Amino acid sequence: MELDAQTLRARDCYALLTSLIVPRPIAWVSTKDQAGHTNLAPFSYFSGLGSDPPMLTLAIAQRRDGSDKDTVRIARATGALCVNLVEEHDAARMNASSAELPPGESEIERLGIATTPCLAIEGVRVASARAALECRLIDVHRYGRTRAVNLLVAEVVHFFVDDGLLSASHAGAPPAAAADAIRPLSRLGDRWYARLGERLAMPRPGTTG
Ligand SMILES: Cc1cc2nc3c(=O)[nH]c(=O)nc-3n(C[C@H](O)[C@H](O)[C@H](O)COP(=O)(O)O)c2cc1C
Repeated sequence: MELDAQTLRARDCYALLTSLIVPRPIAWVSTKDQAGHTNLAPFSYFSGLGSDPPMLTLAIAQRRDGSDKDTVRIARATGALCVNLVEEHDAARMNASSAELPPGESEIERLGIATTPCLAIEGVRVASARAALECRLIDVHRYGRTRAVNLLVAEVVHFFVDDGLLSASHAGAPPAAAADAIRPLSRLGDRWYARLGERLAMPRPGTTG
C-alpha cells in the first residue's frame, strides 16, 4: 500500500506513526504547580536528546479545544518536571493517570499514588517508580497544523535510580541500569503495550565489551 501523507487525515497519520514507531518508552511525567497541586500523565512521544548536558524531549499535543495539557502548562510556569520510569508493575496506574481531569485536579490524589519529594527540583516523583529523571525545562517549540504539538526540551538535573536496578559495577564503570533487571513497559499502536522480549548482546565493531 502506498499512502500520500499530504492527503491523509491527521487521525490516519496518528494511527500509522504510533503503530510503526514502536516500541516507544513511556515518560510518566509528574509536575507540581505554584499552588502545590500535583499532576501526573504518561507520554510516549518521548526520547533522549543528548548527554552533555543530559537532555530529553517530549511531544505533547494540545487538547481538542486548543488549550495546553496540564503538564505543559505547569512545566512552562514552574520550569520543572520529573520523568518517572514506567515498568510492568505500574502499568495499570500509568494508564489510569492518562485520564483528562480538569486543571487543578490531581491524578496523583485521585488514584492514591504514593510520591516522594524530588531532590533537585520543586516537585514529586512516583514512589513505586524505580528510576526518575528530575528535569528543568529548557525550551518549548510549537509545531503542527490544526492541533498543535508542543515539543518540550528538558535538561536532566538529577537522576534517581533504585539500587536494585543498577548493574553490578566494577571499578571505573559508569552507573547504569542492568538490562536483566529493568522491566520497562513500552507502547505500541492503538491499545497495545509490550514487555521486553528476548535480549541479545551485540558489541559494537572495534570494541571488546
Ligand atoms: C501510554 C500513553 C502515552 C501517551 N503519550 C502521549 C504523547 O506522547 N503526547 C500526548 O500529547 N499525549 C499522550 N498521551 C495522552 C496524555 O497522557 C493525556 O492527554 C493526559 O490526560 C494529559 O494529561 P495532563 O493534561 O495532566 O498533562 C498518552 C497516553 C498514554 C496512555
